[in-house]
Amino acid sequence: MIESGPAASGEAIFRLDGKVAIVTGASSGLGERFARVLSAAGARVVLVARRLERLEGLAAELDGSVPVACDLGRSEDLELPVQAAIRSHGRVDILVNNAGIERSRPALEETEEVFREVLGVNLVAPFVLAAAVARDMRSRDAPGSIINIASILGIVGVGRPPQASYTASKGGLINLTRELSAQWARYGIRVNAIAPGFFASEMTDQLFSDESGYRWVARHTASNRHGHGHELDGALLFLASEAASSYVTGAVLPVDGGWTSM
Ligand SMILES: NC(=O)c1ccc[n+]([C@@H]2O[C@H](COP(=O)([O-])OP(=O)(O)OC[C@H]3O[C@@H](n4cnc5c(N)ncnc54)[C@H](OP(=O)(O)O)[C@@H]3O)[C@@H](O)[C@H]2O)c1
Repeated sequence: MIESGPAASGEAIFRLDGKVAIVTGASSGLGERFARVLSAAGARVVLVARRLERLEGLAAELDGSVPVACDLGRSEDLELPVQAAIRSHGRVDILVNNAGIERSRPALEETEEVFREVLGVNLVAPFVLAAAVARDMRSRDAPGSIINIASILGIVGVGRPPQASYTASKGGLINLTRELSAQWARYGIRVNAIAPGFFASEMTDQLFSDESGYRWVARHTASNRHGHGHELDGALLFLASEAASSYVTGAVLPVDGGWTSM
C-alpha cells in the first residue's frame, strides 16, 4: 500500500529557497532563461560563460548571483565554476550543464580539430563539472541534482543541418547522464538530462533566419511548431527540485513537441 502523508502544494514543491545552483552558458539563450527561472524559485545562481559583461548584467538583476568568466573549452578553466560557488556560497546543490556549441558542416568536411573542440565543450566539460560538484555533495553528505542539457540530436540523427560532432557529443552526454546516475544514486545525487527540440537562440540563428527554417522544424514536429523558451521552465524546475523529483534519476526528458515520438 502506498504510504500516506500530507499532499505537497503545487507551488511549494518547486521552490528552491536556499539552494545554490551553477548554470553554464548563462550569457544567452536557454542558459540565461534557466538562470532566471532558478533564481525566481529562490536559488542563488553562479552564472558561467565567456562573455563576462553579459553575466554581470544578468547578475545585477538576480539576487545573490555571481558571474564567473570561464572558457569551458580550456582544461585550466574547468575548476573555476565550483571554486566560485564554494567561495561565495559554501556549496553547490544544483548544476545545469547547459553551455554548448555546434559547428554545422558535412561530416566529410569536419576536421578532427573541430570534432575535438565540440566534444570538449559539450561532453568533457559537463563530465568534469559534474564530478567536481558531486565531490562537494559527497564531502557534505548532501543530496543534489545535476541536469545535463542534451538535445533531440543526441537521440536521433537528422542529417540536415549536418552536425556529426554535435550529435556525437549530445548522444555521449545522454549516456553519461545514465552512467553517472547509476554510480551516484546511492549518494542521493541525481543526474538527469533534458533533450530540447528546436528553440530560437543564437545557436539556431541561421536555421531561423527565414521562414523556411520554421517550416522545416514544424514539418518534423508532431506539435507542428518550434518550442518557446518558457516551455523548458517546468522540466528544469521538476528535475532541480528534490521535493518534485527525488526518485527520478537517469531520466532523459525530451521537450520537443513530439519530434522524437514520430
Ligand atoms: N536552441 C536549441 O534549439 C537547442 C536545442 C537543443 C539543445 N540545445 C542546447 O541548449 C544549450 C544552450 O544553447 P542555446 O540554444 O541557448 O545557444 P546559445 O544562445 O548559443 O548559448 C550557448 C551558451 O554556451 C556558452 N558557451 C559556448 N561556448 C562556451 C565555452 N567555451 N565556455 C563557456 N561557455 C560557452 C555561451 O556563452 P559565451 O559565448 O558567452 O561563452 C552561451 O551562453 C546548448 O547545450 C545546446 O546544445 C539548444
